[in-house]
Amino acid sequence: MEISRIAVIGAGTMGNGIAQVTATCGYTVTMIDVVPEALERGRANIWGSVARLFSKGRLTAEQKAAAEAISTDTNLQAAASADLVIEAVVEKMSVKQQVYTELDRLTRPDAILATNTSSISITEIGACTRRPDKVVGMHFMNPVPLMQLVEIIRGLDTSDETTMAVTELSVKLGKTPVEAQDYPGFISNRILCPMINEAVYALMEGVGTREAIDTVMKLGMNHPMGPLTLADLIGLDIVLNVMQVLHHGLGDDKYRPCPLLRKMVAAGHLGRKSGRGFYEYGGQL
Ligand SMILES: NC(=O)c1ccc[n+]([C@@H]2O[C@H](COP(=O)([O-])OP(=O)(O)OC[C@H]3O[C@@H](n4cnc5c(N)ncnc54)[C@H](O)[C@@H]3O)[C@@H](O)[C@H]2O)c1
Repeated sequence: MEISRIAVIGAGTMGNGIAQVTATCGYTVTMIDVVPEALERGRANIWGSVARLFSKGRLTAEQKAAAEAISTDTNLQAAASADLVIEAVVEKMSVKQQVYTELDRLTRPDAILATNTSSISITEIGACTRRPDKVVGMHFMNPVPLMQLVEIIRGLDTSDETTMAVTELSVKLGKTPVEAQDYPGFISNRILCPMINEAVYALMEGVGTREAIDTVMKLGMNHPMGPLTLADLIGLDIVLNVMQVLHHGLGDDKYRPCPLLRKMVAAGHLGRKSGRGFYEYGGQL
């Protein structure tokens, strides 16, 4: 099936980035969110981002105009004519379940439903629909316009045809698709979050200071930033949630979340977004 119309559900951090990239690559895009202010913020982000990329010569005037022409809606009904839906709503199974039940009813039976989930089972999401063969993971990275990878995750019943369609789309978006099977954390978070969790253990046990831990990984392993800095960027609540998914889903204590991570989340020290995590971020509260 030829993909030309894309509906992006959720206008938050990931949704507006996905809408931007798909629109600048020539697709007709509708961005849908239940919260009108989220649509406004999402649209403002897109306009700011394409203006910057245009001024740096990285987008043409046509691409900028295409992103500015993204239509928005507060009703899921606006996804009815889409060939492909990319869902980027909050990471809560109860919310996703409701969204997929509705999407399954509203969209054409041949439309593909792709989820940007970081940690929820694609198989479980597919089971909320009558088309699990057309449900697939399309895990974009943040920030979407800049990051190269799209992790393509196959649920138990995802068809070859669906996998091929979103793989080809990712290439058309200028990304590098990599296929993963549907196990907790897929490839990306299965490896990244335990590394961050281990860094928090090292901090808790006094193996090194926050600066020492981050510097060893930056200068010794050539990582662009240290794991504690990265945890602050991702959000400590998100890291804890992924560790709980790994621990529960794989049933192995090697994935147990570090008590210090739990304590910091309980205290509301969530990283950059709350103004304080492993580091302090003045004026960002
Ligand atoms: N933030 C990241 O770095 C990142 C990276 C990769 C994947 N993800 C995944 O992407 C998804 C979205 O994450 P985010 O960071 O953009 O979240 P976010 O909180 O920034 O945005 C989520 C949006 O979904 C909207 N929403 C909630 N319920 C809805 C509904 N029923 N219908 C339509 N919209 C609804 C909210 O209003 C909000 O605007 C999650 O599944 C997350 O795991 C996030």
